[in-house]
Amino acid sequence: MSSSVDQIKSKIDIVSLVGSYIKLEKAGANFKGRCPFHNEKTPSFFVSPDRGSYYCFGCQAKGDIFTFVQEFEGLDFIGSLKVLAERAGVELEQLKSGEKSERERLFLVLEKAVFFYEKKLSENKEALEYLHKRGVSDDSIKNFRIGYAPADWRELLDYLLSKGVTEKDMLSVGLIKQKDSSLPSRSSYYDTFRGRIMFPIADSSGRVVGFSGRILVPDEKSPKYLNTPETELFNKSEILFGLDKAKKDIRLKGYSILVEGQMDLVMMHQAGLTNTVASSGTALTEMHLEKLRRLSERIMMSFDSDSAGFNASDRSAKIALSLGMDLKLVQMPEGKDPADLAFEDPELLKECFRNSKSIVDFYVDTLLSKNLDPKDLAIEIRKNVLPYIAQMKDKTDQSQWINVIKKKTFLNEEALWEDLKKIGVGANTYTNLPLNGAPPGNGKRVDTIERRVYGIILWLKEQGSKNKTEGEIVDKIGLENRAKEIFKERWEELEKIFEKEKELLLFETESYYNNKSNLEKDIDELLVALEEEYLKKELGFAMISLQKAEQKKDSSEVLKYLEECQRITQRINTIKTIKNAYEKK
Ligand code: UTP
Ligand code: MN
Repeated sequence: MSSSVDQIKSKIDIVSLVGSYIKLEKAGANFKGRCPFHNEKTPSFFVSPDRGSYYCFGCQAKGDIFTFVQEFEGLDFIGSLKVLAERAGVELEQLKSGEKSERERLFLVLEKAVFFYEKKLSENKEALEYLHKRGVSDDSIKNFRIGYAPADWRELLDYLLSKGVTEKDMLSVGLIKQKDSSLPSRSSYYDTFRGRIMFPIADSSGRVVGFSGRILVPDEKSPKYLNTPETELFNKSEILFGLDKAKKDIRLKGYSILVEGQMDLVMMHQAGLTNTVASSGTALTEMHLEKLRRLSERIMMSFDSDSAGFNASDRSAKIALSLGMDLKLVQMPEGKDPADLAFEDPELLKECFRNSKSIVDFYVDTLLSKNLDPKDLAIEIRKNVLPYIAQMKDKTDQSQWINVIKKKTFLNEEALWEDLKKIGVGANTYTNLPLNGAPPGNGKRVDTIERRVYGIILWLKEQGSKNKTEGEIVDKIGLENRAKEIFKERWEELEKIFEKEKELLLFETESYYNNKSNLEKDIDELLVALEEEYLKKELGFAMISLQKAEQKKDSSEVLKYLEECQRITQRINTIKTIKNAYEKK
């Protein structure tokens, strides 16, 4: 398959591909346009024909022709491969092989079942009435391909057999089950779903992989909802109901909404909250949330207030926080879920979402409304709020929230930090890398210079590896060595810091140095400025050591640091002279 991928890549030019979806205009070596993955007025979406990649400065979307088609068309990799292969006129041999067609066959079985259930719903007055009674519109029924599984044992089975589907395939996708084989009967198989409203569940590219069925006439022994068992295609820990329909809007609106049930999801979409997905009864996993995080860092979770208290969406909330997501909670009026509200009072539903609160605000406010005395309040905060903060992976976020608690409750900040430490922040190893040890004030400036220099090196190296002349490459290596000499041990830290941002840095640098005429001069100036900043920092430390030595009256130490200070000052003066020379140029 990889050869097909390369073939396709060489045949399709990213600018004309992206240009067939959105309007692009030339911007130096690149092209730019308005990002198709988030709402924006000024173009911040850049396409590089040389690298065959794109990057959005607004929403950080990035990738190549394959990811572009995946994201834009809502396809998975194979799907994008097919689309692009066709465009490029490349034959995909491997896709025709046995293994692939097995999956394709199973998808087809599920499609046939969807068709069957849809037809049965249109013929069943009671089921249709039930849906209408709950406020589900005919449009939603069509849009979500809602169906009905008749209350018989073999209707689907017989239908699929008549369409040439084998029992083995039906079993593989979980549509039928095997009876206790000791019983004498015509066949030992029967339909999994009987007497249920059927909600097809699709993967993120929109292909149906399973079902969730709600019982039409409740009885004592059957569960209200029944889901497809774990199958080759249906993986509970990965599938989010509605993601195929919501993904585009999650990107555009910049946040996702998570609800619990199938009905909730359908009704939320019907009410226009089309960036909603549902966990549909299964425990939410990191994989679920990671999928959402890739679309947007921001997430809202709703829960009904009967189950409120401190454990409702507890687990999901903690996972979201540990993934660094920006989490807000939405409280429903007592006894209502989003489905009820979307039907009874869509305006109130939207109001609830407008009133969403961050999880810390939410719980602190709840506690404050209980009018506890300060001691109990402190205990409750420690027990019920700090554990969420402990989950956050970013130290800055943590201190921001500690600050919020302090302001709201007047509890002592140090005590809060102490308590937080006891909970074991250590569970989260990730904290933001310190940007540098520079004294406050010029930290930002150093960061900017470091970023620029590192970006240039990355960019030149990348060009060097392409079709550039020998001499130029040597020059670039020269630059890298010069920079490394100044960066010293900071170099490795920078490599780590920028590791994930390479694409962004490349585009940044490229758009900055559209016409490379000023590049050489800039490099020299940047390196000099950087060295100066580093030296100033070094001087600061040397002076502190000098002071300490003087206090201790340690004359040899004093001499040592005095010399060091002089050496650094001299170098700084030299640099100033160099800088003046540049400015006159
Ligand atoms: P609820 O019992 O709150 O039902 O279960 P609901 O969503 O309000 O359903 P309606 O409105 O009566 O139709 C919440 C979710 O938990 C899962 C389903 O996904 C359901 O939507 N669930 C519930 C199951 O998987 N099995 C069950 O037996 C019950
Ligand atoms: Mn409900």
